[in-house]
Amino acid sequence: MWSFSTVCLVKMNSNIYEPEEDSYLLSETIEGQIPKLLTKNKNIKFLEIGSGSGIHLKTALNLGVKKENIFSADLNQKAVRHCKSLGFNCVKSDLFEKIKGKYNLIVFNPPYLPEDKSEPLDSRLATTGGKKGSEIINLFLKKAKKHLSKDGKIFLLTSSLTKGINFLNYKKKIIGKKKMFFEELEVWELKF
Ligand SMILES: C[S@@+](CC[C@H](N)C(=O)[O-])C[C@H]1O[C@@H](n2cnc3c(N)ncnc32)[C@H](O)[C@@H]1O
Repeated sequence: MWSFSTVCLVKMNSNIYEPEEDSYLLSETIEGQIPKLLTKNKNIKFLEIGSGSGIHLKTALNLGVKKENIFSADLNQKAVRHCKSLGFNCVKSDLFEKIKGKYNLIVFNPPYLPEDKSEPLDSRLATTGGKKGSEIINLFLKKAKKHLSKDGKIFLLTSSLTKGINFLNYKKKIIGKKKMFFEELEVWELKF
């Protein structure tokens, strides 16, 4: 994700977040992990919060997750329409507001940058995680517990620019990492 003040540019197509380094890191991590999950359970239920362009929904499908087991949500109506047009189940929802049931895998590449008042409002939805950058992540972590199956895992992307993440009592480990000149990205595996 490009910080607006760093490059004064956030790549958005019709207000839908176009895949960036953060998206590709999460996608590569998913590619490495889903085959292992599928060997244990062919019917894993996959949920993405903040599906944007649908990049991770396509990755999950290509790796063999059954289409009827792929679910997604975004607060941006255009992203929801786009993911639906790709044939995926997608609802307009503020985090888990409209989500029912439990999932084996929940993925989220959240808006994680601290607020930058010079950034246009329409791109903030995809990039700004609150004053410290962690407010949406912290809400997500609180609400996700209810939607994880017993063996369920979360793959969450975070950045060194995000301050104040509260991982609660999840067991956590880093399963993906990328260093860039202005930030370091990490993908966390979280479970009970
Ligand atoms: C950084 S973009 C990631 C998009 C895509 N998953 C990717 O990796 O390229 C964050 C996405 O989360 C969505 N989003 C932001 N706040 C949200 C919320 N409270 N509930 C659901 N989706 C949200 C944005 O609209 C955006 O599509």
